[in-house]
Amino acid sequence: MHPPVTDLFSDELVARLAQARRVAVLTGAGISAESGVPTFRDPGGLWEQFRPEELANVEAFLRNPVLVQGWYAHRRAVVERVQPNPGHHALADLEALVTARPGGDFLLATQNVDGLHERAGSQHLVELHGNLRRTYCTRCGREAEEHEVEAVASGEPARCPACSGLLRPDVVWFGEMLPEGAMDRATEAATHAEVFLSVGTSAAVYPAAGLPLVAKAHGAYVAEVNVERSEIVAHLDEHVRGRAGEVLPALVERVRAWRVP
Ligand code: APR
Repeated sequence: MHPPVTDLFSDELVARLAQARRVAVLTGAGISAESGVPTFRDPGGLWEQFRPEELANVEAFLRNPVLVQGWYAHRRAVVERVQPNPGHHALADLEALVTARPGGDFLLATQNVDGLHERAGSQHLVELHGNLRRTYCTRCGREAEEHEVEAVASGEPARCPACSGLLRPDVVWFGEMLPEGAMDRATEAATHAEVFLSVGTSAAVYPAAGLPLVAKAHGAYVAEVNVERSEIVAHLDEHVRGRAGEVLPALVERVRAWRVP
């Protein structure tokens, strides 16, 4: 028999979230799992089906642009078919609660490239690994229109109509730098956070995985929400074992209802 969701997290986490003025959140693929977007390292995840070295780095792209463009077109199609889930919406609600407080400061840093946080209404958002719904030219940098990206159907790589450069998804591949300023904003928020939530990430990929540790080192109360224990759980204050789409709405409801005892 599963304990009620509200038993999965502590009263201390609720009280701290209800009183904090500076809150920061890191999310990973696990928060989109309940929307139907596969994660990377879980059983049946993307890296079990596909080899990252063949799909998620520049060398692989230049070796076989049709294969890589095709794979991202497939992932874009998956994302366009799904909706944000209650976990995404709960974080947008938490943002509204915190930013309504005097001096309230909130940042959601996501590793996800699916755009579901934005579709759920999150505004104080930084996409650390880009967004697969954007595509740009590798030669002139011009952002491509949707229809220009579809050329892969013909077996030819999609090219920029302006300069014929190869078109690539605006995501961060292994070995690449994160978008300008993204990590600075996230590190700033982690450094000043009173409460930091790490949601649905294995914390296996740096520099993003270091953010909860930065927050911890600067005195924040750090909790992770995950169906499993992540690689950094031993360094955190609380592990909330549950599905983000069930835990986060219940947590935000408790925070909204919280009153000074
Ligand atoms: N609710 C909460 N957590 C979940 C859920 C769920 N419903 N389903 C899965 N999880 C957890 C898993 O237990 C796992 O710890 O989400 C985590 C997903 O981990 P990964 O698949 O490793 O994804 P992520 O941490 O986002 O990967 C980081 O690696 O491949 C790169 O660039 C890619 O951004 C990605 C980065």
